[in-house]
Amino acid sequence: MSALLFRNVCFTDGRRAQDVLAEDGRIRAIGAQLTAPDGAQIVDGHGFLLSPPFVDAHFHMDATLSYGLPRVNQSGTLLEGIALWGELKPQLTQQALVERAMQYCDWAVAKGLLAIRSHVDVCDDRLLAVEALLQVKQRVAPYLDLQLVAFPQDGLLRSPTALANLKRALDQGVDVVGGIPHFERTMADGGESVRILCELAAERGLRVDMHCDESDDPLSRHIETLTFHTRRLGLQGRVTGSHLTSMHSMDNYYVSKLIPLMAEAQLNAVANPLINITLQGRHDSYPKRRGMTRVPELMAAGITVGFGHDCVMDPWYSLGCADMLEVAQMGLHVAQMTSLTQMRACFDAVTVNNAAILGLDDYGIAVGHPADFVLLQARSPEEAIRLRATRLAVVRRGRIVAQTPAATASWRWRSVRACSRPSRTSPVARARHAVRSTAAAPPTSPLCRRAHRAARRVHGSG
Ligand code: FE2
Repeated sequence: MSALLFRNVCFTDGRRAQDVLAEDGRIRAIGAQLTAPDGAQIVDGHGFLLSPPFVDAHFHMDATLSYGLPRVNQSGTLLEGIALWGELKPQLTQQALVERAMQYCDWAVAKGLLAIRSHVDVCDDRLLAVEALLQVKQRVAPYLDLQLVAFPQDGLLRSPTALANLKRALDQGVDVVGGIPHFERTMADGGESVRILCELAAERGLRVDMHCDESDDPLSRHIETLTFHTRRLGLQGRVTGSHLTSMHSMDNYYVSKLIPLMAEAQLNAVANPLINITLQGRHDSYPKRRGMTRVPELMAAGITVGFGHDCVMDPWYSLGCADMLEVAQMGLHVAQMTSLTQMRACFDAVTVNNAAILGLDDYGIAVGHPADFVLLQARSPEEAIRLRATRLAVVRRGRIVAQTPAATASWRWRSVRACSRPSRTSPVARARHAVRSTAAAPPTSPLCRRAHRAARRVHGSG
């Protein structure tokens, strides 16, 4: 029986000086000054925040880490990114797809990101990316939950084989039905694609997550259509509209009708702050629109809103490092969510809200739940966002799978002014006065690397 005891941590709900005991992969007890079982591994939490793991509700793992292949997106637009991805697709190999995805999963685990919903392009008739990510899903399962969305990148109706390929992908085990209605040739075709895809999901009992209205067009109406079919087919609570950037530019009167309709259909919404702020508004001069959907207004209507990373070093976005606190920080800024309540809502948008969107069972730090959590070098959710806090320890199923040294600061300036000691390192810097470490977090976690090597042996690849 393996036991792991975290002493003296605080929680996102404000409880402090708590211990958490994990045994056999599950949380057995939570409380003050728990008794350690014989042989238990004990970790001193120093009063820092023990959070449920980060969850990403929107990602593209088939394209990740392909930055510069075959060239860089010069205009920075969504449409050039799609064209660039189309140039790269014929050159893809399954081995390269798997290697890049595994590298990204290593980064994710090191950052405490333990569940990802990734769209996977089904418009390549070979379905190379589908097969690759299904393999990756199996390999990383001990460390990370990977949920896949069948995504017709080139348009369900615009691409002649997309629908057949999408069904093949679902047959092979892809979890969720995706779509991209704003990329169809006409608004009518976009609406028709939404109908077809929602009916397919209803037939198969699957969830839906559609790229929807990812444009600056104030007249784009696909989210309205998605809301309609969600109610018509009884899919309430199982459908997500991703991006929804056109809502930023819509007429306010129309939005005052639309948001209640979305709430009525129990639609989930996912904004992708890093990508929306860089891709949208590219056709504007000044003022330049922010291009992110109306996050605080959607939340106020009771809609579950998550933040996604969307892209990391791919045809659409040249930056990123699997850090969901960076995502939350950008979302907070773009949406001007600066009150204490709103900052905490941004933390929820990369944890509990995304977990609800993915439909994760037993998520969160509670007795009986899987022992999955992250010790952050911060005292509260808002401080974690402010500092993009160091992930001191990442725990999956009761085992520490990644660790990062605490960030520290040298107080050289004070010693110079006081002419006392030449320099010193303040232990206080590890707490309230912590600054972001100048050393980047290790991009890989040793345990994950070992698992990958083991998986390669099992699968005879790499
Ligand atoms: Fe996306």
